[in-house]
Amino acid sequence: MLKIPKDKLPRHLAIIMDGNGRWAKRRGLPRSEGHRVGMEKVREMGRLCLDFGIKVLTVYAFSCQNWKRPKEEVDFLMSTFERYLDEEADDLNERGIQLRVIGRKEGLSPELRRRIKAAMELTRRNRKLIFNLALNYGGQEEIVDAVRTIAEKVKRGELSPDQINVDLLSQHLYTADLPYPDLLIRTGGEYRLSNFLLYQIAYTELWITPTFWPDFGKEQLIQALEEYARRERRFGGLGPSVETGRS
Ligand code: IPE
Ligand code: IPE
Ligand code: MG
Repeated sequence: MLKIPKDKLPRHLAIIMDGNGRWAKRRGLPRSEGHRVGMEKVREMGRLCLDFGIKVLTVYAFSCQNWKRPKEEVDFLMSTFERYLDEEADDLNERGIQLRVIGRKEGLSPELRRRIKAAMELTRRNRKLIFNLALNYGGQEEIVDAVRTIAEKVKRGELSPDQINVDLLSQHLYTADLPYPDLLIRTGGEYRLSNFLLYQIAYTELWITPTFWPDFGKEQLIQALEEYARRERRFGGLGPSVETGRS
């Protein structure tokens, strides 16, 4: 079990689930098999976060740049998301999980959008865990969308330019009402952000593992959470160990 005090747990955990394709290739399987197992892991992660008492989970499932992949792979991923929403919505609801899909909905098929809407509607009153699934998501695109909305408000005279500050921009992001991620996990070993939550992760703790996403499970999650609990977050200040004279 988890032996971390509640105040040392991240409130918001963000995950870049990477390495599905390489996991499959290593086993002589098609990339689609990596995505299929990867989606099973997404289910598992939601349940674990709920059990551990994490309040917000954000998983990067498809970026605005992933459309560059072969059509066959993109189609497979889209049908995997459709199936996931269909099969999972009731279960998420019963567990008290609120599902939100973040990203540019316009780019998704009408069928997928219909299922997203249904699952979000069904679970919208749940509060135990907020689970953001980032689909057709890009951090730069999210900032552009926020700036556009703000510009429209300025144009209509609802806002003046000097009211634009860090908090206001934050309130126009897809994650407006949520705390920033405390911990970001990236599987698959790449040391980059790949356009994920760029604005929100200014002071997020990063934890990167070479483990491919389909191999990521409870043990590794606990390992990441334990390391996070030992980190000293300073947010540009001096932090408790300096302020109290401890080394
Ligand atoms: C992550 O796995 C899932 C998505 C981007 C949809 P990848 O498909 O990127 O797997 P690798 O990085 O090629 O191994
Ligand atoms: C990041 O993985 C996007 C998702 C996990 C959805 P990618 O595989 O697309 O990232 P890059 O291309 O290696 O940076
Ligand atoms: Mg990848």
